[in-house]
Amino acid sequence: MSKPTLSKVVVPAAGLGTRFLPFSKVVPKEMLPIVDKPAVQYIAEEAVAAGAKQMLLVTSRNKESMEDHFDMAFELEAVLRGRKKESELEMLSKLSKLIEVASVRQQQPLGLGHAVLCAKPWVGDEPIGVMLPDDLLEAPTPCMRSLWECFARFGHSMGVVALMEVPWEKTHQYGIVSAERVEEGVVRIRSIVEKPPSNPPSNLAVIGRYMLPPTLFGELEKTGRGAGGEIQLTDALARMVDAPGLLGYLFKGRRFDTGDKLGFLEANVAYALKRPELRAPFLAYLRQLLETEST
Ligand code: UTP
Repeated sequence: MSKPTLSKVVVPAAGLGTRFLPFSKVVPKEMLPIVDKPAVQYIAEEAVAAGAKQMLLVTSRNKESMEDHFDMAFELEAVLRGRKKESELEMLSKLSKLIEVASVRQQQPLGLGHAVLCAKPWVGDEPIGVMLPDDLLEAPTPCMRSLWECFARFGHSMGVVALMEVPWEKTHQYGIVSAERVEEGVVRIRSIVEKPPSNPPSNLAVIGRYMLPPTLFGELEKTGRGAGGEIQLTDALARMVDAPGLLGYLFKGRRFDTGDKLGFLEANVAYALKRPELRAPFLAYLRQLLETEST
C-alpha cells in the first residue's frame, strides 16, 4: 500500500556541472546563490511544500557543502546567540530543521538514470519524488506538490512527469514526449525520447520534476547506456509508457535553469525583484542600467 503523502524526494546532484566552470570546479553549482540562498535550498523548500519529510542528495566529490548547509552550525549559532542576533539565529535554526537530509555518493558520473538508481536502497518500496536542483520552478502551487496530487489522484501507480513547451529549436536539449490530453493540464504520454537530434515528436519537454512508482528502479536496472553514453532516466521512463503508464503534468509557471549562466542570471534578477526590501532599489538600478546600455 502506498503512503497517503509524499515522503521522500531524491535530488541528483552528482553531475560535473561543466556549463558552470570554473566556478563548479570545487564548489557545487547547487550552492550558487539565488539572491541569498543556495539553489538547493529552494529545492528543499519546494519538497517540504509538497509534504516531503526526507531528502536524499546524490552527490560526488567536493559536494559536502550541500549537506553542511542543512546541518546545525553549532559554533556560528553560539556566536550569534552571544551577539543577540535573534533573527539570524531563528533563520539558521529553521533551516536545520527544514527537512531530514541524507546523502549517497554516485562514484562515477554515469548519467541521471544511474544517479537515481543510487537512491534505491534508501527509497525502498515507496513512491519517489525526483527533483533536479538546476530547475528552479516558480508557481502558485509548487510543482512537486501538483505532481504528487496528480500521482495520488490517478491511483499511485502511473508515474507523473512535469512538462513544459520549449522553443522547437531547443527540443534537442530535452527529453521530448508525444502525448494525448486526459483532462485540463494532464496528458497521457505515448512516447518519450531523450534529446532527439531531429524530428522531435512535439515541443513538449520534460522538466526537472518527477513523481514515480518504485517500479522505476527495476526499469533503471534494465537500462543500458543511451544518449551521450549515459544511463538515461528518460530511457527507463520510456519502458513505463505502456505499463504502468506515464502521465504528464503541464507546468504553468516560470522556470529557470540555474545550471546555465543565462538562466542563473535571470533567476537572480527575478527573485531579487520578489524581495520587498530589494525591489525598489534594484528596479531603479535596472532602469538606469538599461538607459545607459541602450544609448
Ligand atoms: P546535467 O545534464 O545538467 O549535467 O544533469 P551536469 O553535469 O549537472 O551539468 P553540465 O551539463 O555538465 O553543465 C542533470 C541533472 O542530473 C544530475 C546533475 O547533477 C543534474 O542535477 N546528474 C547528471 C547526476 O547526478 N549524475 C550524473 O552522472 C549526471
